Amino acid sequence: MTTSPKHFLDIHKLDAKTVREILDLGLAIKNGPPDKRLEGKTLAMIFEKPSTRTRVSFEVGMKQLGGDAVMLGGKDSQLGRGETVADTARVLSRYVDAIMIRTDDPKKLIELAEYAEVPVINGLTDSSHPCQLMADIMTYEEHRGPIAGKKVAWCGDGNNMAASFIHAAGRFGFSLSLAMPSELGLSADVLEWAESEGVDFSVSESADEACSDADLVVTDTWVSMGDADADKRHKLLQPFQVNDARMALAKNDALFMHCLPAHRGEEVSASVIDGPSSVIWEEAEQNLHGQVGSHGWCFVLNEQFQQRFFNYLPDRGA
Ligand code: NVA
Repeated sequence: MTTSPKHFLDIHKLDAKTVREILDLGLAIKNGPPDKRLEGKTLAMIFEKPSTRTRVSFEVGMKQLGGDAVMLGGKDSQLGRGETVADTARVLSRYVDAIMIRTDDPKKLIELAEYAEVPVINGLTDSSHPCQLMADIMTYEEHRGPIAGKKVAWCGDGNNMAASFIHAAGRFGFSLSLAMPSELGLSADVLEWAESEGVDFSVSESADEACSDADLVVTDTWVSMGDADADKRHKLLQPFQVNDARMALAKNDALFMHCLPAHRGEEVSASVIDGPSSVIWEEAEQNLHGQVGSHGWCFVLNEQFQQRFFNYLPDRGA
């Protein structure tokens, strides 16, 4: 009998215990001795959009654990010539042990997961970026302790990162104040999910209000990969820039994060992103450990690999 693989598609599709387990796993591997528990295992990485951090951190993460990674570009694989995602999923499942995909339409991610016989990991779609959130939560907690009950401010576009922040607020128990122009707001399904789950969040058009008393201030590029309307976005998002005045409204020990790539002088001033509150380089490094947690977790929870990772799971008692 075959069991369906467990995927890492989005934070809100997993329960709070499981997402915490992924973080614990990433941290345990980060802080533990070198190990090669994924020896002989291969991850396929499909990139239909550009990547620096996700690509390198997934590949290095696999190699650090003794495995390997194979990269497929959207244009230079048969996907770019019209082979279906379903057929690609069926074929890759015969070669590799897990598949990561970065793509535009989240429906492709869902189709991949539906037809793959191995775990699928979301490496970003237009709708969400869950792996980055795992890195962000790890980074915050390494600096300041548990994020539960803290206030996080999001200033900017209601994009894939903002959606994953709402999902994470629900699963990790922090309060999220989002400031964004109504024209670039979050999609109705994200808001409906958050309301139905009782997530502690608010949406306004005031970046000052969002940043007031915040423990963590976050922003992202004004023009995400695939966005065509750059001029309009610049005009709409200018009032949401994170700068010294905004950081001064946050708590004295507030941190600043950005998933990168950043545009100094646009969504964030150079004084903030290169200043003392910023933990962007640790956050970027944490992609590696978060990714290791995510693909490690996919192997852990998928029966055939459980024994390989068993010793990494921290003992939580009975
Ligand atoms: N919102 C950005 C995130 C990049 C990691 C984008 O989708 O381009």
